[in-house]
Amino acid sequence: MTTVNTTHQTMNTVIHAAFRRTLARFDTALGDFDTTAPERARQLTAAWDMLAAELHHHHSYEEDIFWPVLQKLCPDLAMVEELDGEHDAMRAALDRADRSMQDFASAATPESAQKARVAVGHLSDVLLNHLAHEERDLEPISARYQETPEMKAATKTVIKSELGRLGQLIAWLQDGADDNDRRGLRKQIPDPVVFVANAVGGRRYRREIAPIWV
Ligand SMILES: [Fe+2]
Repeated sequence: MTTVNTTHQTMNTVIHAAFRRTLARFDTALGDFDTTAPERARQLTAAWDMLAAELHHHHSYEEDIFWPVLQKLCPDLAMVEELDGEHDAMRAALDRADRSMQDFASAATPESAQKARVAVGHLSDVLLNHLAHEERDLEPISARYQETPEMKAATKTVIKSELGRLGQLIAWLQDGADDNDRRGLRKQIPDPVVFVANAVGGRRYRREIAPIWV
């Protein structure tokens, strides 16, 4: 797994850490895929669907909500266009990986597992480069502005539209997280909210997705 030594200043890098962990898990799971355990293909497909949805949500929130606010607060943010282009490349790689995972789901063979592993590996390369770029250049600016009323309002908008999925998101963010990532999550979301959301809304994740990675 690509490990990145991050001191989490915002929720963004906590989510990035979960993307890195989950993609590394897919690489191992597809590499180890055993056709004598067909149930495994169904499980990996469920985990994939969740990861693909999280990737879409995360990048859409950046483009539609967070980055426009940052651009208003900080008008010289030329790098956003570059990051936007990287999102396009990520979506193309995600579409390709998605098609390979669908092929794997409909006929789970060593060949389709290998093809899916290559496509997911490509997505991983594209995404991890983008995340590193964003963390190096934009994250310090996001951290500087995160306490402004505008950024707080943007965060509120995202939380509101995530309410129905908050428990699943929190369960996923903690699954396999190290102490640093857990501390980063708790810096952004108060302990009682993490506890309740995880206990109630995180049930499905814990029942259906988390056991896949044990
Ligand atoms: Fe991004």
